[in-house]
Amino acid sequence: MLHPITQQILDLFENNGSSMYGGEEVTQLEHALQCAELARIHYATDELVTAALLHDIGHLLHDLPDDASDNGIDDMHELLGEKYLTQHFKLGAVEPVKLHVQAKRYLCATEPGYHEALSAPSKISLEFQGGVMDQIEVEAFEKNEFYKDAVALRRWDDLAKDPNLVSPPIESFTNAIESSLK
Ligand SMILES: [Fe+2]
Repeated sequence: MLHPITQQILDLFENNGSSMYGGEEVTQLEHALQCAELARIHYATDELVTAALLHDIGHLLHDLPDDASDNGIDDMHELLGEKYLTQHFKLGAVEPVKLHVQAKRYLCATEPGYHEALSAPSKISLEFQGGVMDQIEVEAFEKNEFYKDAVALRRWDDLAKDPNLVSPPIESFTNAIESSLK
């Protein structure tokens, strides 16, 4: 018997997960599964695997079009996701979700070549997400207890866009989800 929140999350993906992931070639569900599987094969904790699976859940919680970011609209999905998850999940599953957009801005500032390697949609959204971090923002970001998890999640996020990959079913992540609940 699944926890009601786990069931609610499975239903959200079932009902809304087939929308496309921004301007990329995968659906929201495929993107989430690829990201979570990358976390799992890198031996991430259950909380970080859960964060990877649910990092874009904010996109499933609003009614803006899939390509909102192409039109210069910031849907603030990381904050919507945080608000939803924080009621039910431990901090280790919530903070990397909240920070995954900031982690992109951080990597653009601290890792040579990172910005150039971003996909076109990701470069566009960067601009209205605040652009590259300045030094003060970098230092503040590194003070967050979960910033390294957020950076790891971000790297998996960037890779989780392969239209030819077959991922494990979402049910294979229910144990990780349930052990991350408060
Ligand atoms: Fe993502």
